[in-house]
Amino acid sequence: MRVRQGDRDPEDLRATERHGNLLDQPYVVRPSWPYLQRKGDDMRAIVQDRYGDASVLRPAEIEKPEPGEGEVVVHVHAAGLDRGAWHLMAGLPLLVRPAFGLRAPKEPVRGREFAGRVEAIGAGVTGLAPGDEVAGVGEGCFAELARARVDRIAPAPAGLGPVDLAALPISGLTALQAVRDQARVEPGQRVLVIGASGGVGSLAVQIAKARGAHVTGTASPGKLDLVRELGAEPMDHTRPLTGVYDAVLDAGGHRPLRRLLPLLTPRGTLVIIGSEPGGRLLGGTDRQLRALLLSPVVRRRLRSFVSSENAADLRELFALAEAGTIRAVVGETLPLDELPEAMRRMVAGATRGKVVLVP
Ligand SMILES: NC(=O)c1ccc[n+]([C@@H]2O[C@H](COP(=O)([O-])OP(=O)(O)OC[C@H]3O[C@@H](n4cnc5c(N)ncnc54)[C@H](OP(=O)(O)O)[C@@H]3O)[C@@H](O)[C@H]2O)c1
Repeated sequence: MRVRQGDRDPEDLRATERHGNLLDQPYVVRPSWPYLQRKGDDMRAIVQDRYGDASVLRPAEIEKPEPGEGEVVVHVHAAGLDRGAWHLMAGLPLLVRPAFGLRAPKEPVRGREFAGRVEAIGAGVTGLAPGDEVAGVGEGCFAELARARVDRIAPAPAGLGPVDLAALPISGLTALQAVRDQARVEPGQRVLVIGASGGVGSLAVQIAKARGAHVTGTASPGKLDLVRELGAEPMDHTRPLTGVYDAVLDAGGHRPLRRLLPLLTPRGTLVIIGSEPGGRLLGGTDRQLRALLLSPVVRRRLRSFVSSENAADLRELFALAEAGTIRAVVGETLPLDELPEAMRRMVAGATRGKVVLVP
């Protein structure tokens, strides 16, 4: 989904000649859309042409995506903002760059979760037709149109609006798999969710409660009311964490494992979901790696995982939401062109639950 090479401006061409390749400036972005004449095969998107802070993001008109084999193109009603979008915008930790672009992002548009309507279907796609309402994991969702693999989407449930739905896929899959598969939470267990005011944690609290657990959730002082509203016992994460739990799910901060292990019963489970900020090279993954390495030599179960993006779990998640068992906490809904500000607020910890962008 690159901007047409024919649109490159003279300054960019001169830069290309100076540097010999387009790695630093692979996408030529036209000025903001209010000043542009739209062409028939263009769409609005927020793009980036290099890694950096939120100032690298800018609105542009780019070519509409085409569905590949096993894919659909969706008209995006709403797109959720999750931490992963920030990591790919910043190119941090550096660990992500070999896969996503060494010196600049290979794809210009961020955003990996959406609710929308199928516009076009690719080769080999069955059971879906243009006009179907779906939601799930897509590529380049901070745009009017996005691509999605059919095995990573599910039908939109009745009674759930696109904003609530778009906040669920990435954070919800992670929370569901952390509670169900990693911690294997059972009725009556005591569970601590670190980062209960965030996108993943707020859903993990609700899923653990739905499985009959007694849940304590941590947050900063200004968000403890949210944790209480979710039905968990609130705990201020700016103070030392206390208590003993059958499972600790960590989706916030960067506490060393040695400070988390004493919070577990002798056979308790610690699940490292993720953490911020961590170092430049490995980010939060260093704790995840440590947990895996330490796991064989301690009696307690130490787990870390990368969430699986699959349609079966999306259906389970959406069914929970449709039944009213869980709800995504959407702190803010913003127009798509406010994505840079949304990124800044998320990184500053100024958001509650999720921010959702509407193209
Ligand atoms: N393993 C996977 O597959 C996977 C998938 C998705 C996300 N993740 C990772 O999971 C983590 C959480 O993601 P998210 O989308 O939920 O992020 P988020 O919405 O930004 O939430 C971050 C949470 O961390 C809390 N927090 C901040 N500083 C803290 C501290 N010092 N001690 C304890 N908690 C602190 C925040 O609380 P306050 O705002 O109240 O301070 C908030 O509840 C991220 O690192 C993300 O990369 C992993």
